[in-house]
This record gives sequence, C-alpha cells and structure tokens, in this order.
Amino acid sequence: MGSNLARNFAHKGHTVAVFNRSPEKTRALMTAHGDEGTFIPSETIEDFVASLERPRKAIIMVQAGPATDAVINQLADAMEDGDIIIDGGNALYTDTVRREKEMAERNRHFVGAGISGGEEGALNGPSIMPGGPKESWETLGPLLESIAANVDGTPCVTHIGPDGAGHFVKMVHNGIEYADMQVIGEAYQLLRYGAGIEPAELVDVFTTWNKGDLDSYLIEITAEVLAQVDAETGKPLLDVIVDAAGQKGTGRWTVKAALDLGIPVTAIGEAVFARALSSSLDQREAAQGVLPAGDLATFESLGIDREQFVEDVRRALYASKLVAYAQGFDEIKAGSDENNWDVDPRDLATIWRGGCIIRAKFLNRIVEAYDNDPALPSLLLDPYFKGELEGLIDSWRRVIIVATQLGLPVPVFASSLSYYDSLRAERLPAALIQGQRDFFGAHTYGRVDKPGGMFHTLWSGDRTEIPS
Ligand code: 6PG
Repeated sequence: MGSNLARNFAHKGHTVAVFNRSPEKTRALMTAHGDEGTFIPSETIEDFVASLERPRKAIIMVQAGPATDAVINQLADAMEDGDIIIDGGNALYTDTVRREKEMAERNRHFVGAGISGGEEGALNGPSIMPGGPKESWETLGPLLESIAANVDGTPCVTHIGPDGAGHFVKMVHNGIEYADMQVIGEAYQLLRYGAGIEPAELVDVFTTWNKGDLDSYLIEITAEVLAQVDAETGKPLLDVIVDAAGQKGTGRWTVKAALDLGIPVTAIGEAVFARALSSSLDQREAAQGVLPAGDLATFESLGIDREQFVEDVRRALYASKLVAYAQGFDEIKAGSDENNWDVDPRDLATIWRGGCIIRAKFLNRIVEAYDNDPALPSLLLDPYFKGELEGLIDSWRRVIIVATQLGLPVPVFASSLSYYDSLRAERLPAALIQGQRDFFGAHTYGRVDKPGGMFHTLWSGDRTEIPS
C-alpha cells in the first residue's frame, strides 16, 4: 500500500522520496515503477530525511504496534523542529493520542491518518482521514487532496479533528465495513442455501442490487467474487474458499471502544463475533450433524415466491446496513464527545462517498440527513431513512422468520431488528433487571412517577420502599 501511495503522489507531479527498511523493496519499486514520476530512493533513514524539503513530511505505512513506534522514533531523531510524521497505518487511536503527545514534546508534528481503499485505492485515490494538529493540516491539506479520491469535485479527505480523531473514525469505518460485509454474507447465505440460487445466477441479483439503494463498492465486488470460477476445479471459487474469516483487528477495536463508550454497536459486534465463530473450526466440526436442528422447513414447503424472497432479502440487507451505519455514527459521536474532538458526521459521510471500502451511493443521503439536523439522535430518525424503513420493515421481519424456519444463521439481520425494536419499544425488560439488581445488590431504581429520585425496596425486610 505504501508503494502505491508513493506512485499516486508521483502521478500527481510530486517529487517523492521513498525508503523501506528492506532496501531491496525500494529497488524493486524503482525498477518496476521508477519511470512513472520523480522519485528519490534512499537506503538509510538519514538519507531519506535529508532528501525531504522543509518542513519535512514523511508518511509511514507500518503494521500497527511496536514496529510503528520504532520507525516514528527513528524518523523523529533524524528530523528537526516543525517536521511532520504521518502514520497512515491502521494504528489504534489511543496509541496515536500517546504518540502525538510524545512527538509534540519533541517539537515534531504527528498526524494519525486513516487511509481507506486498499491497494487500488492507495494507487488511484483513497479516502483519507487525518487527525493531528490543525496547523499540520494547513501544510498537508493540498498534498492529501491531490491524491485522494474525488466525488463531484470534492476530495475525499478532510481534517477530522485533533490527535487520535483520524484513526478513531478509520477504526469505526472498518467496524461498519465488517457489518456491511456480514449482511451481504447473510443475504448470500439465504439466497444460496435457502432459495437454492446458484452463484452464477446470484451475480445478476447483486449486479441488479448495485443499481439501486445498495449501490456500493462492497456489493459491486461481491458480484465479482460470485462470478469467479476456480481454474483448477471448474467450481465457483467461493465453493473452494475455506469459510473461516480472518480479521486484522480494527473491527474488534471498534467493539471494545464502543463497550467503554456505552454505545450498542450490535451489528458491528455480531459481525466481529461471526468472523470469530467461523474460524472456530474445531468447535464447528464437533457441532456439525451433532447439535439437533429441530423440525426445519424447506424453502419449497414454505411456498415462498422466489422473486419476492429475493426482494425481501434485499430490503432486510438494506435495513440491517442502515442500523450498522446508524450505530457507527453513534459511536463516532460518543468518541468525539469523550475526547473533545468535535468530529462532524457530515465530513465523514462526505469523504466516505469515494475511495474507501464502504463507499456507497447512500452516503449522499447520510450527508443530507446530518445537513438537515447535525444533532440527529439517530440516523434512523432522519425523515428520509425513516421513510425508507417504512418500506423495509415487513420484509425484514419476514426474512428473519424464514431464516429461522430454515435454520440459517442471520446474526446481524436478526440482532439489528432487535436493536431496532428495542429502540422503538415503549417499555424494555430493563425495569425487571433494575428490580433484580435492587433485590440482590440494593443497587436502587428510578420510578416512572417520580423522575429524578432513586429508591430501594427492603426485600429482606418488610418490603417497604425507601428513598435511596
Ligand atoms: C480499508 C480496509 C483495510 C483493512 C484491511 C484488513 O479501509 O482499506 O478496511 O484497512 O483493515 O483490508 O481488513 P480486516 O480487518 O478484515 O483483516
């Protein structure tokens, strides 16, 4: 990804200094792509820094963790006051907050920048989410705008907020990405193993969906993956891929941060757990054909119209995706409030319209939603999306019923509907939980008819109630 970013800068007419801790990789880049622009290769970090114009700007793309600290300190040692180090990797935002403070003490500017779009995005235009000092953005802005994706003349990059804000929103971007990929997987599972639609035909389904509300990079590449035939066996490639999902960690971080912030990112959490469960191969093997399935229906026995089912699944996917984005934006707001970053959700929806993995047409609608009401209590309550949900909800419920009758797992579809029903419920079972907590722990409870007060019942005494 680092090489492609360097090439992207070179394609835009910048002179690009390049350095890799493995000199052969620098040589390979120059051999393969040195003629694409003006590069200054170096084989020591000192030469690399010396080749940079003041104020120096160095973007590092290193695996998150101790290796990042090592490279940052090497650069900081070789640099001078006012120089800028940009970490473009998927660093944990709390590390970025720490690093920004450490570098500020050494008069170095440190910018943690989320960069989304994979190898292709890095080369042709990623979405970039830089945090760090505002004055760094003054210097970096034009540079990053020149290489970022561009939608309707707007570069997919903006200053997100101070210190770790950029890496925080990139982390949540990835959490949303996990949920987005999982709901696409659940739709595929229902259509393939419920309705019996084969991959070759599913290509048309996803291609059609990509022309409507679900128009997005992930739907687009799903059709590509479904269409791919394995050269060796002649089978759909999908059928020879081991069904155990990997995860480098940003989805997990999103859920951990949400737990600490008290934000229910149930769709993202279920997507992370679904990856973990898929990789628990020994446990799955022990359960397959052993755990009772109960009295399952077949798609035919349910007498469902296939075309209607495909449309119902599309709507369930769309509704679940909406929940995932709403929860992701809730987490971003909570993280921004907690850290005084003042992140503007409109900025994110705007720069996520292109270049990044979750780029999607409906992000334009999210920009409009926050334009209309920046203090929206939930994205789901935006009039447009509320209207969309009117047309989705009945299909959403039908699909989860059918999935249950067929014994097909839909963890994000189902948890998202429960989240949705919880959000709109008049009363939740939390009242009973408060009673239980007060019974065994005297943790007190509020009364609906006496707002602001807390009370305790003398459960082991005469069961009268006392103000706490
Ligand atoms: C992006 C991607 C990228 C992602 C890696 C690993 O925005 O370009 O989200 O940053 O982290 O592709 O993804 P996993 O977390 O699924 O391993």
